[in-house]
Amino acid sequence: MEIKALNTSHLTELENLVRVAFAKHIGIPDPNSFNSGASLASRFEVAADGAFGTFIDNKLVAAIFCTPWGSFGFFGPLVVLPEYWGSGLAQALIEIADQFFKDKNIELAGLYTFSNSPKHLALYQKFGYWPKQLTALMSTEISLLNPASAETTATAERFSQFDGASQQSYLEAARELCNGIYPGLDLSSEIKALASCKIGETVFIEKDGATVGFAVCHFGHGSEATSNSCYIKFAAASDQEQFSRLLSECRKLSSAVGVTHLTAGVNTARHQAYKTMLQSGFKMQAIGVAMLRADHDGFNRPGVFVIDDWR
Ligand SMILES: CC(C)(COP(=O)(O)OP(=O)(O)OC[C@H]1O[C@@H](n2cnc3c(N)ncnc32)[C@H](O)[C@@H]1OP(=O)(O)O)[C@@H](O)C(=O)NCCC(=O)NCCS
Repeated sequence: MEIKALNTSHLTELENLVRVAFAKHIGIPDPNSFNSGASLASRFEVAADGAFGTFIDNKLVAAIFCTPWGSFGFFGPLVVLPEYWGSGLAQALIEIADQFFKDKNIELAGLYTFSNSPKHLALYQKFGYWPKQLTALMSTEISLLNPASAETTATAERFSQFDGASQQSYLEAARELCNGIYPGLDLSSEIKALASCKIGETVFIEKDGATVGFAVCHFGHGSEATSNSCYIKFAAASDQEQFSRLLSECRKLSSAVGVTHLTAGVNTARHQAYKTMLQSGFKMQAIGVAMLRADHDGFNRPGVFVIDDWR
């Protein structure tokens, strides 16, 4: 058995392993129908050194992705080929993730998992991750609005349309906004990866010349979004009013790019954000739990207007 860093050359084998492992756990007969259309390719752009795999006889049998967002990091997906379950392969990879987080000076580490699985909770607890609040994976239908109507007129700025210097200043604005939510939280790598892989758009909203919100939206081939959907991988806003505005801009973007659904996960401890999403038409599709290796709740707390799900 050998644990090695993974790269894009392993993508096909890796995505197949992810589908087989999750389909087995969830009980889906056809692994290809798990997260159909979604790709993990851009994870290598976000953190080129964050993926690790376990090989037995040159075959990939287990894998883990670690994602650093500044001072916060999470791991997932973590997968083991079903025939090797219970033989310690996941634990060996969690140790690798521990080292990765140490090397990156991550001070708050977390993950998302199945809230109803004693096996999953016990496994992560062994490494100091404790179950905190529920994370709701949500979805809302997108109606194809009349493109000429006022309500479809996007007021958000699009990262892909900026020149290099403006991109730098918007990255800085996003960093500042996130830093105010949790010290050192930094989504720059996600924003840059989305732009360089051309798998979506990051929208920014402004008020009185200041950035008050942004949303990293995946859609299309090669993105993390499932077929026909736009997936908000991360979004942050300064307050409830701007959060509502940001959701509305994500809807407009979804309509403009022709997807039928807008999906997003939110930690339910962010009460107002969660309620705002429900009020704006999002419905729960699945529930998981956020586990954190800390005795505080990080940015999973009331008054925080953030969307993310750590899968
Ligand atoms: C979850 C998963 C990664 C675990 O992989 P694994 O290689 O079987 O895990 P390991 O063998 O390293 O560790 C499992 C540990 O949990 C323990 N465990 C299992 N069920 C348990 C329970 N009900 N209560 C307490 N401990 C339990 C095992 O005994 C083992 O610990 P031990 O070695 O001290 O005995 C694997 O089952 C998988 O790929 N599942 C499908 C995809 C998935 O769910 N990924 C994780 C998403 S968050």
